[in-house]
Amino acid sequence: MVTEPQMTEWWRSAVFYQIYPRSWADSNGDGIGDFDGMTDRLGYLRDVLRVDAVWVSPFYPSPQADFGYDVSDYCDVDPMFGDLAAFDRFLSAAHDLDLKVVVDWVPNHTSNQHPWFSDGDKRDWYVWRNGSELPNNWKSVFGGPAWSRGPDGDAWYLHSFLPEQPDLNWRNPAVESAMFETLEFWLDRGVDGFRIDVAHRCMKDPLLRDNPPAVEPATGYKINPEYAAFEHIHDLAHPDIHGLFRRIRTLVDSYPGDKVLIGEIHEYDWRVWASYYGRDLDELHLPFNFSLLPAGVDPDAIMRAIEGLEAAIPTGAWPNWVLGNHDEPRIATRLGHEQSKAAAVLLLTLRGTPTIYYGDELGFPEAQIGTAAVRDPWGLRMPGFGRDGCRTPMQWDAGPNAGFAPPEAEPWLPVGHHAQSVATQLSRPDSHLNLYRRLLDVRRAAPALMEGSVRLLSQWGRPNPLTFERWFGDDRVVVVANLSEEPVTTDLAGTVLAGTDPHRWDSRLEGSTMLAPWEAVVLS
Ligand code: GLC
Ligand code: CA
Repeated sequence: MVTEPQMTEWWRSAVFYQIYPRSWADSNGDGIGDFDGMTDRLGYLRDVLRVDAVWVSPFYPSPQADFGYDVSDYCDVDPMFGDLAAFDRFLSAAHDLDLKVVVDWVPNHTSNQHPWFSDGDKRDWYVWRNGSELPNNWKSVFGGPAWSRGPDGDAWYLHSFLPEQPDLNWRNPAVESAMFETLEFWLDRGVDGFRIDVAHRCMKDPLLRDNPPAVEPATGYKINPEYAAFEHIHDLAHPDIHGLFRRIRTLVDSYPGDKVLIGEIHEYDWRVWASYYGRDLDELHLPFNFSLLPAGVDPDAIMRAIEGLEAAIPTGAWPNWVLGNHDEPRIATRLGHEQSKAAAVLLLTLRGTPTIYYGDELGFPEAQIGTAAVRDPWGLRMPGFGRDGCRTPMQWDAGPNAGFAPPEAEPWLPVGHHAQSVATQLSRPDSHLNLYRRLLDVRRAAPALMEGSVRLLSQWGRPNPLTFERWFGDDRVVVVANLSEEPVTTDLAGTVLAGTDPHRWDSRLEGSTMLAPWEAVVLS
């Protein structure tokens, strides 16, 4: 469990913040967030929340069939978000504030409106198969088969997501060089790295063999049963993906400034997950670690996640943690309001780089979206599966449209019933926002939290309260989290640096202390 601290690269000590650009700040009143709006609000990230880096979800020209994850031009900005000049202003304003900017890169598929898809000379840039029957049993993540008939009705093309999102054929070197040029385009503009959308899907079985049925089909909230019925061994994660990641890494490493590669990798086998760092740490810097999502607030499951990660992660590689994103139900609803505060303590004190999804720092609950208001294509295809509830507008103040958009605007999704704005929460000591701010401050000041090792300390052999220690040199921090409905006692002593109950901040715990249900403390 002991790892060499190597905090030379900025992304190891950074806290990331994900912006869903449609929903963060609308400057021109069309109800959709945009770059000028984002630029105006950057001060919040630097001075109020005090994070270090932003990841911006797709803003490229797109028919918006999957709200930007269907790209029709990788080297421009959709007019709804501004233009390249507005992007450049955003980037340089962020850099002036010492904020890094990571952009989303969507390599697995384009929009069906991308000129490549209708170019007869580029047929082999996508995955086409002739025949009267479906080419295989692969399913779309969003429901139905992963194949649709092309416009002339003669052949099938592959789409892992919507029919409007045809999969690129990454086995064609022309696709690789065209897509690498898109990376260079944004690197040349000065971005600090990429979040790679469904990263390990780019390489599939070249024989397109059927997936076998799942031995134990996954169950749970928002699992598409038709998709979960199969073991996804052929439609994604072919071993050739490692070579592709290495080539992408070589490209970004040819730029100065420690560009970062973050991969969206939904992989829950720790050894497989760890393989995406690369055998020589020459693939992704940060394959997203989604293990806290299924773990919820179950102390046993969280312990297993910490142990699994620490056992699997290669020497010299750096961990990361996330609680939510634009695809997942909001944590405050998934876990509960109080529970989500304890989860925030873990997110910001576990060993590794945390990513905060916008609005989670305000404890946004999942918004209830009436049937008529559903916008997410997944929700339209499969009722109940919509992701709109976690994509509602940012709430800046208690004014009209919560300050997200000018008063007369009609936001693309309802602002939500939760009056949980930044302004309101700043004035409430026990708010989510003030907890996040405190945790971020404590984190920045404590080498143990920034770069220290981690060790689980189970008390009386029981998983609850979840207790772990972080240390670096002489600096030691202990985190105790009561992940249960019942009060629990802890015998640990120390000064409370931060915790879910602000009344305890800066006070001392001595001897036996009763922690309230879902209370978590960070002790020096
Ligand atoms: C990723 C994105 C998701 C998108 C899908 C298809 O999972 O996070 O929002 O719908 O890829 O691009
Ligand atoms: Ca706008």
